Amino acid sequence: MNTRLTVAAGVLVALNALPLVSAQCQTTSGLSWRHKPDVKDNAISANVIANGLTKPRSVRWANDTLIVVDQGVGLVAFVEGGNDCANGWSKSVLVQNTDLNHGLAIQGSTIYASSVDNVFRYTINWSNRSVSSPETIIQGMNLAQNHKTRTLELYENWILVSGGASGNLEDESVDASHGTAQIRRFALNGTVPSGGYRWFDGELVSFGMRNAVGITMGADGRHLWTVENSADQLNYTSGGNLVDIHKDNPSEELNVVDMNSIGNFYGYPNCFTAWDMGSVVSGTSLATGDQFSIVPNVTDAQCGNTTYNTPPRLSMQAHSAPLDIQFYKADGVDENVAVTKDWNTHAFVSFHGSWNRDPPTGYGIVRIPWSGNEPSAKADAKDGYSFILQASDLAACPNGCFRPVGLAFDSRGRLFGTSDTTGELFVIHKATAASAALRMASSSTWFIIITTFMAAYVIT
Ligand SMILES: *[C@@H]1O[C@H](CO)[C@@H](O)[C@H](O)[C@H]1NC(C)=O
Ligand SMILES: *[C@@H]1O[C@H](CO)[C@@H](O)[C@H](O)[C@H]1NC(C)=O
Ligand SMILES: *[C@@H]1O[C@H](CO)[C@@H](O)[C@H](O)[C@H]1NC(C)=O
Ligand SMILES: *[C@@H]1O[C@H](CO)[C@@H](O)[C@H](O)[C@H]1NC(C)=O
Ligand SMILES: *[C@@H]1O[C@H](CO)[C@@H](O)[C@H](O)[C@H]1NC(C)=O
Ligand SMILES: *[C@@H]1O[C@H](CO)[C@@H](O)[C@H](O)[C@H]1NC(C)=O
Ligand SMILES: *[C@@H]1O[C@H](CO)[C@@H](O)[C@H](O)[C@H]1NC(C)=O
Repeated sequence: MNTRLTVAAGVLVALNALPLVSAQCQTTSGLSWRHKPDVKDNAISANVIANGLTKPRSVRWANDTLIVVDQGVGLVAFVEGGNDCANGWSKSVLVQNTDLNHGLAIQGSTIYASSVDNVFRYTINWSNRSVSSPETIIQGMNLAQNHKTRTLELYENWILVSGGASGNLEDESVDASHGTAQIRRFALNGTVPSGGYRWFDGELVSFGMRNAVGITMGADGRHLWTVENSADQLNYTSGGNLVDIHKDNPSEELNVVDMNSIGNFYGYPNCFTAWDMGSVVSGTSLATGDQFSIVPNVTDAQCGNTTYNTPPRLSMQAHSAPLDIQFYKADGVDENVAVTKDWNTHAFVSFHGSWNRDPPTGYGIVRIPWSGNEPSAKADAKDGYSFILQASDLAACPNGCFRPVGLAFDSRGRLFGTSDTTGELFVIHKATAASAALRMASSSTWFIIITTFMAAYVIT
């Protein structure tokens, strides 16, 4: 009886006695989240490292410098000071240009950044972080009315640029020569035309992607992975009736482009991917991952024909709004701070969160387990990913939630991210002993264990 009481009391004392900060990893930056998200995996902790940004979007690491596109400002650099994880970040403005709104790619001392209309190239002197005046390398990209991001990715001697459709459903984008809802690539190994390439000078990499905001080359250097924001307010014709399917359809898509076979069609604006059609369309055989048509002259069967339409490799819940995808390479990371090596090669995707769903969904960061050169889950899975961080009260979203946008791992294995609506920059790293214990203490498991001991004591 006394033993039980001692054990129960011992647990409480141990929790109180834990140091608030572990020796290896300072996490007390002194900054608190505007809307603190829930950590969904005990292996990690998450902290704000900077706030007060205007609207931070893409983020990239280069030469020990974290560079952020702060929409409304330009390019901003953060350099870490003395303490690990969170403390002592210093900020400087590298480029003042309020047109820069999302895209960012860096190679050596060359920085590429995009506005709605242009891709600019800068040279940075890393010793004093001075940046040259811009050279315009692509012009005339302003083809889409309300999807304004032009995401950039470098590979071999190319720059890839992704642009969305002009509107929710843009009929014209079914034609690749229309220029919207597609990815193009531009050569960087020769001379760039004076004034920059025109959009249509770029080689077509893919089309029929409604708004592939996140694009990242896979570890094999041959497969481009894209996360596509699919349509809102969708209806589907079934048995002559128009059925409102928008709440849980269509899926957001994780697509893959084989760079040895480019120029393929990915379905939009005719074909979409089922997430949950069964609960709204009676008698349907459409399951998660299946393709369906919303236009009269294309059948569901034709959408399912991979000669016509390339389906996604994985589905994500409708309206999650995936904006970035990054892979974790655990080689050579600093195990004092890195996220677990068990996640080596896995993909991480930011979900900006829904507006077209009640209750809201998204508003977090998910991990997609990976095996070989593809997701571990099959294409028809609904559970091919899981949240590691998510807004704590989805009912309060969007205004009372963080909204993740850009993601970037540093060489030490920490994942950095931006939240545009809250103006925050945050880091996800290995759980500190204190934060892990506190989370466990607050979990119902510990509550049950402790109250069980107490109850046993009282009864006996
Ligand atoms: C930084 O380097 C650039 C050349 O890369 C030079 O023009 C500039 O004067 C330098 N600034 C300082 C403060 O040294
Ligand atoms: C870069 O800046 C440093 C420090 O100002 C300067 O000494 C160096 O010459 C610059 N490098 C180039 C390539 O201009
Ligand atoms: C990184 O910056 C240092 C100076 O801070 C410079 O010596 C080095 O060449 C830079 N590396 C690259 C890849 O530019
Ligand atoms: C640039 O790279 C492409 C593709 O690898 C190649 O076909 C082309 O000849 C190269 N151009 C120059 C000027 O090196
Ligand atoms: C779906 O149907 C509703 C009701 O008729 C309509 O308001 C909405 O615009 C339709 N959605 C699309 C994408 O056309
Ligand atoms: C279906 O019809 C639309 C509108 O008439 C047209 O733009 C589209 O090209 C057609 N699609 C196919 C696959 O025939
Ligand atoms: C798929 O589409 C291709 C070209 O459009 C066609 O030749 C083929 O017969 C179709 N396959 C099936 C199973 O319908």
